[in-house]
Amino acid sequence: LPRVLSGIQPTAGSFHLGNYLGALRQWVSLQDTTEAFYCVVDLHAITVPQDPAELRRNSLVSAAQLLALGVDPTRSALFVQSHVPEHLQLSWVLECMTGFGEASRMTQFKDKSQREGASGASVGLFTYPVLQAADILLYQADMVPVGEDQRQHLELTRDLATRFNSRYGATLTVPSAHIPPGAAKVLDLQQPDKKMSKSLPPAGCVNLLDDPAVTAKKIRSAVTDTGREVVADPVNKPGVTNLLTIHSTLSGQSVAELEERFAGRGYGDLKKELAEVVTDFVTPVRDRTQELLDDPAELTRVLADGAQRAREVASRTVATVYDRVGFLPSA
Ligand code: TYM
Repeated sequence: LPRVLSGIQPTAGSFHLGNYLGALRQWVSLQDTTEAFYCVVDLHAITVPQDPAELRRNSLVSAAQLLALGVDPTRSALFVQSHVPEHLQLSWVLECMTGFGEASRMTQFKDKSQREGASGASVGLFTYPVLQAADILLYQADMVPVGEDQRQHLELTRDLATRFNSRYGATLTVPSAHIPPGAAKVLDLQQPDKKMSKSLPPAGCVNLLDDPAVTAKKIRSAVTDTGREVVADPVNKPGVTNLLTIHSTLSGQSVAELEERFAGRGYGDLKKELAEVVTDFVTPVRDRTQELLDDPAELTRVLADGAQRAREVASRTVATVYDRVGFLPSA
């Protein structure tokens, strides 16, 4: 079976619709045809300051949401990154093979370090993409389901795997990004020139754990474009196009069908229907997440089991890598 690995940051507590449509939806469907490893990347989260109690809580909330969305722990290994120390062991080796200039070109680092302010950005934020490469290469993953914003990190991962293999002999699988055709970049509802993200004001970001009434209001207040016709046009009508994409991906109706159905009706009708489509989707996810959080012992058990399965694979990769690099065997 092909191997799949992906990760998500626990920083925000609730995931948003961009996370789901761009990535998590694929996490769930790929379980049918692959062997999957899914991790909550708490090591990545501390590249910017975190409150310890909140981080712990958010990691649990993240795991519960993944289960509520359909990650099946009997088929996939669901774990927390810090429970598998091999991520850091491989990361160091890869850091020593990454050029300073190469890491400096990562656009997410440039954006995030700007946000942290010149002196505020940590070294961890700089080496973040190398840890991400380690996450992937440890499991010899063939496919990595992610949104468009991770494309550059996946290219770096491929480059590092290829470089390792040419220096030390075939060792690491060179993975490909698995980016969905439709919703690879869900846009902010208030600023549809930017991707949906927690770092923008909350009105533009649909959180899976929001009160459904809040969600409906956010969608009805979405910024649309000039004109009145409900047609997809990413250049001139990014707002409406984004709403059509969200609708289509959740409802399974094609954008063409939607255009036809909404012909002669206004943006208001589209938003009203979309608010229903989205709340119908998020309401059971929110309820199920809450139920799972009511039994933290069971969540902890699922994560411990996932970490154990992950370590079986990860430790084999680290043993091979350490040997190839020339480290003395420890036993
Ligand atoms: P993160 O936690 O920011 O996002 C998780 C996933 O959601 C996708 N995504 C989006 N997709 C479409 N539209 C959007 N507006 C949108 N916003 C976020 C992201 O592309 C991602 O797939 N560095 C990663 C986490 C990571 C990882 C990994 C991913 C760590 N190690 C190994 C894959 C493999 C990140 O910060 O994602």
